[in-house]
Order: sequence, then structure tokens, then C-alpha cells
Amino acid sequence: MTQNKIGLDAEKCKRIVAQLNRLLADYQIHYQNLRGFHWNIRGNGFFTLHPLFEQYYNEAAERVDQIAERIITLGGTPSHTFQDYLDNTSLLVYQNVSDASRIATDILADIGRLIKSQRDIILLSSDADDEVTVDIMIGYNTSDEKKIWMLGAFLNQ
Ligand SMILES: [Fe+2]
Repeated sequence: MTQNKIGLDAEKCKRIVAQLNRLLADYQIHYQNLRGFHWNIRGNGFFTLHPLFEQYYNEAAERVDQIAERIITLGGTPSHTFQDYLDNTSLLVYQNVSDASRIATDILADIGRLIKSQRDIILLSSDADDEVTVDIMIGYNTSDEKKIWMLGAFLNQ
């Protein structure tokens, strides 16, 4: 087994890095989706939802940086172009959505896909004894699973 600089299996880390780069692409699309929701939201819920989406996109931006820096720590290179993100994402790009229920449904779809990817990365990084990546992903899912509850409650689901 070839070890990387932090003593983990280099081949296994390459697979984690590939998955993290896909997650990075998803977060960049999610971030921009949330920006659009923050700008375009209209109607009764405006004064609560406009700042809520700002909170959400700031959290997404923090994750973008954390994922990219984890990729470097594992010996990889984070993708950083819009083209890479569009080519690698599994999320949909939402355009000009202003209705609160539609937005909550779209955010639920984004978060559902993110949780699934994060669970896949937990399995992969656990197999590589990479407990730091496991810990980061568990932190994301702890927060994201709660958002599933809250957005579902908002939608009366
Ligand atoms: Fe703003």
C-alpha cells in the first residue's frame, strides 16, 4: 500500500477525492440555487425566507471551502471552474423561482441528493480509515437531516 502524506492509502484517497469533487460541484450549484431563491422569493413569507436563504447559502459557501481544502489535504486537486461544476453536478439548476412552496420543494430535492452523496462518502472514507472526512460528512448530515424536517413542516408534509 502506498501511503499519502497523512498516512492513508493513496489509492483509496483518490476515490474519496473523486467523490468529494462531485460533492464540491453539487455545493457550488446548491449555493447558486440558494442565491436565486434569496433574490427571487416573493409573497407572504418574504421577510423570514429571504434571510433564511442567506443563512443557507452562507453555510453552503463554508462547506465549499471545507470540502476543497479537505481534497487538498488528501492529496488531490479541487475543481474550481464553473464548467467543471456543471459537468460534475448531480443537482438541477433552478431558474427564476419565486413561489415559497416551490422553493422549499426545490431545496428539499437538493438537500436529499446532498445527504445521499454524503452518506456514500461516509462509507468510502470509513473504509479508508479517514475518520476526519467521516466526521465532516456526519456534521453535514446532522444539519441537513434537520433541514429536511423543517422544510417538510413548512410544506405541511
Ligand atoms: Fe442579500
